[in-house]
Amino acid sequence: MLTELEYTQVIINDYLSLAKPQTGNVQVIPLNDEIQKISDLLTSFANNRNIGFRLDLRDDLHINMNPIELKQILVNIMKNGIESMNNPGFIKVETEQERTMAKIRITDTGVGLSKEQLAILGTPFYSLKERGTGIGLTVCYSIVQKYKGKINVQSELNKGTSFTIYLPLYMEQQSPPIQ
Ligand SMILES: Nc1ncnc2c1ncn2[C@@H]1O[C@H](COP(=O)(O)OP(=O)(O)OP(=O)(O)O)[C@@H](O)[C@H]1O
Ligand SMILES: [Mg+2]
Repeated sequence: MLTELEYTQVIINDYLSLAKPQTGNVQVIPLNDEIQKISDLLTSFANNRNIGFRLDLRDDLHINMNPIELKQILVNIMKNGIESMNNPGFIKVETEQERTMAKIRITDTGVGLSKEQLAILGTPFYSLKERGTGIGLTVCYSIVQKYKGKINVQSELNKGTSFTIYLPLYMEQQSPPIQ
């Protein structure tokens, strides 16, 4: 029997696995519901390090994408946030609409990044972690680019980091997604 924490790790690793490039299966996804689900999923992993989530989910936004790819982005970035924090605290997750984009901001109060580190973020296999593969953000950037979104990062050493992800909103007047 796996403990809840071990079970969570298995699921996290599954989402982070590069071995499963996703094709097709684009769906209209209620963003806030998905964020709620992912923070529930990561709760035991976070609580184990005395970290909690604070969700500030404003507008009811929908995006049109592969749900597994959305999970891959959010799990990666939220997990990085948790791993960056050596002290108890909160990861803040905020959503709101910005013109035609859904804006998702994930903020930690962790170790932060230097200017040099920021500049090479997303480079494949760049990792400062003992057991990191350095693949997480590379996957995030490539998925976001595929959907014509973008990721901005703001960080201050020893203060924390904020990842802002922009993904195009699903507009109802758009033709329905191709099945
Ligand atoms: N929120 C963050 N705060 C501080 N440093 C970060 C943060 N997110 C990423 N980093 C830095 O960027 C590096 C690359 O992140 P990435 O997710 O690509 O790989 P990883 O987390 O090291 O390994 P993996 O995701 O494959 O387990 C990390 O090793 C870490 O040094
Ligand atoms: Mg990572």
